[in-house]
Amino acid sequence: MTKSREEKSHDPGRRKFLKGVGIAGAGAAIADHLWVEAEGAESTATPESLSGTVKVVLDVNGQKREAQVEPRTTLLNTLRNHLDPAVTGPKLVCDVGTCGACTVLLDDKPVYSCLVLAVDATNKKITTVEGLGTPDKPNAVQSAFVENDALMCGFCTPGFVTTISAYLKKNPNPSIAEVREACKGNFCRCGTYPRVFEAALAAAKGSQA
Ligand code: FES
Ligand code: FES
Repeated sequence: MTKSREEKSHDPGRRKFLKGVGIAGAGAAIADHLWVEAEGAESTATPESLSGTVKVVLDVNGQKREAQVEPRTTLLNTLRNHLDPAVTGPKLVCDVGTCGACTVLLDDKPVYSCLVLAVDATNKKITTVEGLGTPDKPNAVQSAFVENDALMCGFCTPGFVTTISAYLKKNPNPSIAEVREACKGNFCRCGTYPRVFEAALAAAKGSQA
C-alpha cells in the first residue's frame, strides 16, 4: 500500500520521503492502478511507444479534464501547462518535493503534485486550492487566511491552505503544536508561519462555531 504525503510527513525528514519515492517511483508513491488511454497499441509497449504521448483523463475539482502528455509528465506540470483552462493554484517552486507549494489533495490526502505522475493520478479525485472554495464562497481556511493576513507574497499560500483544509477535516480542534506538525511539509520563504498557524486555529474555531 502506498502512503500520502501527509503520512510520510511523520517520517523524521522529507529526505527519507524523497529517497523512498525518487523520480522513477514518483507515480508509485500514489497510485495502484492506472487509467490511461494510450495512443496506439498499448499492448506492445516499447521504448518507441513510451516516447510519445498518452491521453489522460483527470478528475480535477469534480470535472473530468483531458490532457495529452508524455508518460513522464508530473501532475503539477499537467495541471499548470496541459489543461485548458489551466489550473494554476498549485505552484511550481522546487519541483523536487521539498517546499509544498504544489500541494494538492489526491482522494483527500495531501501530496506533492510535482512528485506524482499524471498517469498515476487518473483514477483519483484531485482537489486543488481552487476546488476548496471560490472568491465568493471561500472555505473556512481561505477566509481565515484573509482575515488573519496570513500571507505576504502568497506563493506558498495555496499549498498551506490545501494542507490545512485537509488536516482540519481529520482533526477539527487542533493545538498549535499539531498545526505546526501538519504543516511541516510546507515552507514559506516570507516567514509568515505565525500568521499561518493563527489562521489555521481561527479556521478550526470558526468551523466549530
Ligand atoms: S514544487 Fe512540489 S514540493 Fe516544491
Ligand atoms: S508568503 Fe511568500 S513564500 Fe509564503
